[in-house]
Amino acid sequence: MAERVNAVKTSFFGKGAIQLLGPEVQKLHVQRALVVTDPFLYQSGAAARVGQVLSDAGVEYAIFYQVQPNPTVQVVEDCAAAVRTLSAGLLVALGGGSAIDTAKAASILAANGGRLADYEGTDKSRTPGVPIAAVNTTAGTGSECTDFYIVTDPVRHTKMAMVDTNCMVSIAINDIDFMLSMPPSLTAATGMDALTHAIEAVLSRGATPLTDKDALWAVEQIFRYLPQAAADGANEKARSRMAYAEYTAGMAFSNAGLGMVHAMAHALGGRYNLPHGVCNALLLPYVLSFHTRCPVCCRRLTKVAHAMGLAEENAQAVISAVRTLSSQIGIPDRLSRFQQVDPAHFPALAQLALHDTCMASDQLEPYAEEVAAVYLAAFRGEAQMSNL
Ligand SMILES: [Fe+2]
Repeated sequence: MAERVNAVKTSFFGKGAIQLLGPEVQKLHVQRALVVTDPFLYQSGAAARVGQVLSDAGVEYAIFYQVQPNPTVQVVEDCAAAVRTLSAGLLVALGGGSAIDTAKAASILAANGGRLADYEGTDKSRTPGVPIAAVNTTAGTGSECTDFYIVTDPVRHTKMAMVDTNCMVSIAINDIDFMLSMPPSLTAATGMDALTHAIEAVLSRGATPLTDKDALWAVEQIFRYLPQAAADGANEKARSRMAYAEYTAGMAFSNAGLGMVHAMAHALGGRYNLPHGVCNALLLPYVLSFHTRCPVCCRRLTKVAHAMGLAEENAQAVISAVRTLSSQIGIPDRLSRFQQVDPAHFPALAQLALHDTCMASDQLEPYAEEVAAVYLAAFRGEAQMSNL
């Protein structure tokens, strides 16, 4: 079967890579840009630093700094309105997945009109969005190199997952100077998001030799360097390796697809406004345990175990290693650690997860009752899923 491969037009890595944004933006011949960021990065001076690069390149700019974690439809609509008001020819996302996804969604909305819900699913937009440059400040989502974006719908209490090649970033900057100040909890959560991308890409129905190569390299790097980056944020080698690893994990899942962990995490994060990376990290061992009934998944998890450098190359060893890594970097081990999580919601969350676009590339086609049972096992912290 023919395979489509998506990639960012131009990506820059390394300390000082931000200085390469100006010359690259000049090639686009735009007059005005909208910097899309959050209040913290606005107040920290990071947005002004990016703005100076744009000014030096002869591009006028304004700053939209209303991005929030788990960005909502309203934030995206406000951002799209700012794009139209400014007649911006470029969006410059500054931040992690929330800022980059807000820019992607606003770019599609500004170029295509309509409502955001019109674009839920796969390749629903008609024309390419307004061009985007992304200055990434976390090492996790891979949003700067994927054709995915996620927006929270507070009315339905869930997250809409959009897969659309028209939303892809044109210029990606992964400059570790913008990542060194990430606190340990954000480093841990975003790093585990990247690990989940890599593992789900390996297990996916859409996996290919190309995506396996990226994903397994990312697994190896994340296992080696995430504990170091979380323990010592100033460790530039660990930060640099995590920046490459989250990017390659992003490349892998953008082309292979994701699976049940992300489908369940979207429903969970949308209902309780929990951090995406924490939802993935927490659900990952329970969903992997559920997948031990799948011979294809067990075979592929031996490759994951090999990339992790484990003594035993099997699914159970991977599950144990994921639990150990999460514990080491301070990720909660069960959903009951969060007071707002109510098991009475699990049947409804399971229905939302089954309709999430990420579910389509999972090897299994579970019943809603099975998905709800995985939520319950994660709530209770049950080590084994063999009773399902
Ligand atoms: Fe993710």
